[in-house]
Amino acid sequence: MENGKYSDKVALVTGAANGIGAAIARRLADGGAQVVVADFVAERGEAVAEDIGGVFVPCDVRIPSDSRMAAQTAVARFGGLDIAVLNAGVVTGGDGFDADRYRRVVATNLDGVVYGIEAVLPALRARGGGSIVAMASLAGLMPVPFDPVYGATKAAVVNYVRSYAPLVAGEGIRLNALCPGFAETPIIDGFRGVIHDLGMPILEVSDVVDAFEVVLHSTGIGECWQLQVGVPAEPVAFGAPRSAGG
Ligand code: NAI
Repeated sequence: MENGKYSDKVALVTGAANGIGAAIARRLADGGAQVVVADFVAERGEAVAEDIGGVFVPCDVRIPSDSRMAAQTAVARFGGLDIAVLNAGVVTGGDGFDADRYRRVVATNLDGVVYGIEAVLPALRARGGGSIVAMASLAGLMPVPFDPVYGATKAAVVNYVRSYAPLVAGEGIRLNALCPGFAETPIIDGFRGVIHDLGMPILEVSDVVDAFEVVLHSTGIGECWQLQVGVPAEPVAFGAPRSAGG
């Protein structure tokens, strides 16, 4: 039910045809936001957009012009952009190392965020500021032996967000990341045995969306919020490396 929390906002969510992205798009729309649903799976993306009264834009986040088109759609259809959720992501899958799968994961999870930020900045600047939330993962904060490539891309997103955020903060643009543990979506289907062996409880998607809203309403800049079952989301307290002089 619409509660008006986002009634003056326009949002863009990538990877919004399914899982966490679809749930975030729905929550924003429930709050009154006008939402651009961006995904490379058209049928499901169109269904989500129709359901929430938003607009679907075909977007493969690996392609810079697709991300630009998604941001331009927000401006053309809704008059601007306030919130960008760079959420599209994939796991590696398969056995052993494969260069094509490696490139696909890096291109989706890292390039998608890098291109996404560049694509949305002009529209956010035109509004005098806004918020970008990149979907990283707990997998970016710890070793991930069951999918090292995935872990590497999420760690890269964490550091990119921390490094880039100060560059745009002066323009009123807040860039932060969310790092959830395992959440109940199809992306974990290949890992259910591992998750069971680790004894890690699985988040509900609604828990991730709740944490997303906490990040959205926080005042932090370049923060990476960790989220696990039963623990409130909180920014990771990164230690500073020892300086050259010891
Ligand atoms: P999902 O598989 O349910 O949804 C991913 C969405 O991204 C799908 O709609 C898919 O079509 C879209 N997508 C994939 N590649 C794309 C591309 N190149 N261009 C545009 N869209 C693309 O997975 P889920 O769980 O909702 O994942 C969303 C994000 O959350 C991902 O970045 C994932 O890494 C992250 N995440 C997920 C966790 C989980 O356990 N479910 C935990 C931590 C982070």
